[in-house]
Amino acid sequence: MSIVAPPGVFDILPAGTKEEWKRSYIWGYLENSIRSLAACYCFQEIRTPLFERTELFLRGVGEDTDVVSKEMYTFVDRGDRSLTLRPEGTAPVMRAFIEHHLQQLSSEQRFFYIAPMFRYERSQAGRYRQHHQFGVEAIGSAAAECDAEVIDLLYTLCSRLGLSNLVVSINSIGTEGCRSAFRSELVAYLEKKYSSLSQESQIRVKVNPLRVLDSKDPGDRAIVAEAPSIQNFLSEEALSHFETVLSLLSSLKIPYKVNPFLVRGLDYYNKTVFEVTSDLLGAQDSVGGGGRYDGLLKKLGGPDLPAFGFGMGLERLIQTMLAQSVALPPPPCCTLFLIPMGAAAKRAAMLLVQQLRRQGVSVQMDLGDRKVGKALQFASQLGARYAAVLGDNELESNTIDLKLLSSGEIKNIELSALPAFFTKNH
Ligand code: HAM
Repeated sequence: MSIVAPPGVFDILPAGTKEEWKRSYIWGYLENSIRSLAACYCFQEIRTPLFERTELFLRGVGEDTDVVSKEMYTFVDRGDRSLTLRPEGTAPVMRAFIEHHLQQLSSEQRFFYIAPMFRYERSQAGRYRQHHQFGVEAIGSAAAECDAEVIDLLYTLCSRLGLSNLVVSINSIGTEGCRSAFRSELVAYLEKKYSSLSQESQIRVKVNPLRVLDSKDPGDRAIVAEAPSIQNFLSEEALSHFETVLSLLSSLKIPYKVNPFLVRGLDYYNKTVFEVTSDLLGAQDSVGGGGRYDGLLKKLGGPDLPAFGFGMGLERLIQTMLAQSVALPPPPCCTLFLIPMGAAAKRAAMLLVQQLRRQGVSVQMDLGDRKVGKALQFASQLGARYAAVLGDNELESNTIDLKLLSSGEIKNIELSALPAFFTKNH
């Protein structure tokens, strides 16, 4: 029996997949768009390893979070270390920042990554065991302007990609001080409703009560709608920070909705948290999310620097783009398929092909010694635009017949004029 990929993971292919979002040219297009936009906001790329010491996520993300308690791919290596495939990118970036003393380079630094993440989740549409995130982490600024410009980056990316139906939900969960007062009041309220809560929320009341607020269970939602609001527990400073972020978003013309029940699933956040959702995605509707995490670096043994960032799921982003039929560049195609006939032509074809490629023309040469008919058929299967046969006659006359495969139209061109022809026509 042949071996297939494990559940929850997928291949990204140039062709041969019915699911358009798994086509590699779309991923390439998206990654290029991300890189050029990240450069405009002066974010620089960081690459961290695929696995880290397990302790990083226990301390960084929080032992009671779903990601850490239920979803990590953890294993013991041959040196008896507990390691974990990274389930998210923020804690690893903080680890690298601390390990390399990057605060010595400058007091504010901005990173981005495009990287796979691993979570053992129940696989379903929009939820994978290996997913990819575009993440940004801006370290060193506590200013509300930092929150607003990072949200602006995400929003601008979506607009540039042609997405229009996204909703930015935003909330402030204050500082630890604000939350501890809120938590007691919330728990007192939830305990009164305990028997009506879903089983999962009953557990959360005990381990991570704030997470009950973003339960998807309809019964829980009705209870949560009447729950005390964190907004009434924000300190003056946290409230003023939040109000400044909102007014900056308004002046940047970024539409948002304040959602007082948005808390996010990872423990490191404080003050601003936000999520971007799409109503075209079904149950797994979050395209991206993030917020401020001022205490994380210090908690991991680093300098006491504030930070703000987000992570965006590329699978969901591409699925939303396709659901909205945004304009995409055409898949890359082979411009010329060259069919050499005979030993002398093969040698000449190699040189010609090298010359064209060095001028930026995409060319493939027939390597299969096919007869002309079969070779033309093969060229069509490849999706080549033009095909041409190079044999003794062509070498002698120094000209070649270029066949436009879509129409069958033929153009006779001097061999030496080929590079100019293709650079002009493409
Ligand atoms: P997160 O909300 O856990 O945040 O993940 C960010 C995004 O990754 C989600 O909004 C979603 O689009 C995508 N995602 C997460 N899990 C899956 C999955 N199993 N399958 C497909 N897509 C998924 C973080 O990871 C934080 N590190 C974000 C952050 C950066 N906060 C501050 N800086």
